[in-house]
Amino acid sequence: MVRTVALENGKVKLIDQRKLPLYLEYKTCGNYKEVAEAIRDMAVRGAPAIGATAAYGMVLAAREFMGLGKEEFLSSLLAASRELAATRPTAVNLFWALREIEQVINEHRADNIEAICRSILETAEKIAGDDIETNKKIGEYGNTLVPRDANILTHCNTGSLATVEFGTALGVIRAAHGDGKSIHVYADETRPRLQGARLTAWELVQEGIPATLIPDSAAGTLMRQGRIDLVLVGADRIALNGDTANKIGTYSVAVLAKENNVPFYVAAPTTTIDFMIDTGEQIEIEERDRSEVTHIDGVQIAPDGIGVYNPAFDVTPAEYITAIITEKGVVGYPYEEKLRNLKV
Ligand code: MRU
Repeated sequence: MVRTVALENGKVKLIDQRKLPLYLEYKTCGNYKEVAEAIRDMAVRGAPAIGATAAYGMVLAAREFMGLGKEEFLSSLLAASRELAATRPTAVNLFWALREIEQVINEHRADNIEAICRSILETAEKIAGDDIETNKKIGEYGNTLVPRDANILTHCNTGSLATVEFGTALGVIRAAHGDGKSIHVYADETRPRLQGARLTAWELVQEGIPATLIPDSAAGTLMRQGRIDLVLVGADRIALNGDTANKIGTYSVAVLAKENNVPFYVAAPTTTIDFMIDTGEQIEIEERDRSEVTHIDGVQIAPDGIGVYNPAFDVTPAEYITAIITEKGVVGYPYEEKLRNLKV
């Protein structure tokens, strides 16, 4: 199991996920702008991972601005937070983590600059540390839903690489495997960025968890053949009614699961619940560059001049989700009141 992001020698050190599975390389960010770029360019990705990375970015920002006067220090920090927030629009963990840091800055604004820097550092380390503990709890709760010899379908990457460590949906898979259950995983390749083929497959092989990689379009056939016992996916943002934004293609998997009577579970920390929105219609969906669809590893696979639509996420309506697994327990449909109760 790898740790995706950490603060080391005053720098943010993260696994450069664009290089996997062929190379396990680390990228070091020396200032907050480099951290923002790493999130935007998806050197680091996955909802909880980008939240923790942004929090560490604020630690760097605070150190960069230490020589300024107090008012300028505080306003520069706020500007850095805005810049980090503008990197990716869908995963709410990013905004949650930055809000946590901003709140600490506000609470300590009367302190001297060194003390504010220390508070930011403590908060960022807490966000990262809590993420690991949270994922392990999600794993324990989720494991209770996994039958002994289950065949599990998963989409995108929700493992250590998508979090600080351990993972959400892949954390449940890790927990079930660790519990001695002889599970088998079908991993969707997850076009266009292939997080399933490049990252989930890599983590599964590393852990020795029996797994098969499939093209996204094979999921329906497997379900119809009765070869999938449950679907486990993560989330980038969950609305209060349970509507869930996750990697593009998740909605199709959910519809296929319902059609074939396969339980469909979302595993996510409560930091992925957006308590400020009622339904998935309020979730902004990121659209990424056309080259992600027209090229694979720099090789052009579509003609110049073709139009491209490349949404990075979709929203699965709550009624397609059998249950949501959080670190505070498992909740079933209908969600609104139960999710509200999970707010600390
Ligand atoms: O575009 P990405 O790779 O950041 O998208 C990631 C996902 O959609 C994951 O499924 C989601 O963040 C849950 S990860 C714990």
